[in-house]
Amino acid sequence: MLEVVDLHARVEGKEVLKGVNLSLREGDIVVLTGPNGSGKSTLARAIAGDERVEITKGDVLLDGESILGLTPEERFKKGVFLTFQAPPEFEGIPVGSFLLRISGKGEREALEELKELVEKLGLPKNVLFRELHRGLSGGEKKRLELLQALFLKPRFVILDEIDSGVDIESIEKIVELVKELARDGSGILYITHNPRSLELLGRYRVLRMEEGRIIG
Ligand SMILES: Nc1ncnc2c1ncn2[C@@H]1O[C@H](COP(=O)(O)OP(=O)(O)OP(=O)(O)O)[C@@H](O)[C@H]1O
Ligand SMILES: [Mg+2]
Repeated sequence: MLEVVDLHARVEGKEVLKGVNLSLREGDIVVLTGPNGSGKSTLARAIAGDERVEITKGDVLLDGESILGLTPEERFKKGVFLTFQAPPEFEGIPVGSFLLRISGKGEREALEELKELVEKLGLPKNVLFRELHRGLSGGEKKRLELLQALFLKPRFVILDEIDSGVDIESIEKIVELVKELARDGSGILYITHNPRSLELLGRYRVLRMEEGRIIG
């Protein structure tokens, strides 16, 4: 269980989160939407441990224990994964090796699995041998973020606009893969503005953020 309790946070001295409460169970999908600048990405970064987000009040709990004192890497090791964030020390390493290293999976089975995911997500065949995100189109970068989540199957995944910049034909497939990830047990916070995603995920809990608060 991942819980955000009365979270207040500042970015560059400005109060952005003004008392956010949220809970996410493994296997659940929670959809988060709301206007530009309302604080959705800041919430994602606060949960993942981005040190540029200064927590002034409240807590983030994993299985009832605060994770605010942990670095982003430590939070990742405990199973909290934010898709657009890659630990800096792995920069410059090909995506395939990077994922192999952090997954702890055996090389052969992992490579098979990665190749399957590359095909499923319609990514260029050589993507595993390139540096993370280098030379990819906007939509491909998003697909590669999703690939990481699908491969690592973290306990909790925050997908910050995983559907933005992705062609309309592929939204359904992305949502299907996200649902599959939830069925495999990951708890998912799906941040989106996309009407098609909202429609496809309508039967899940849909929350709206406004001016630093979740209003329902
Ligand atoms: N690095 C920063 N420096 C200064 N202000 C920031 C910074 N990052 C975010 N903010 C401010 O914090 C507020 C919330 O931004 P945030 O990115 O969380 O919004 P969002 O809900 O994700 O919006 P969007 O839907 O556009 O992605 C905005 O007013 C933004 O200008
Ligand atoms: Mg955002």
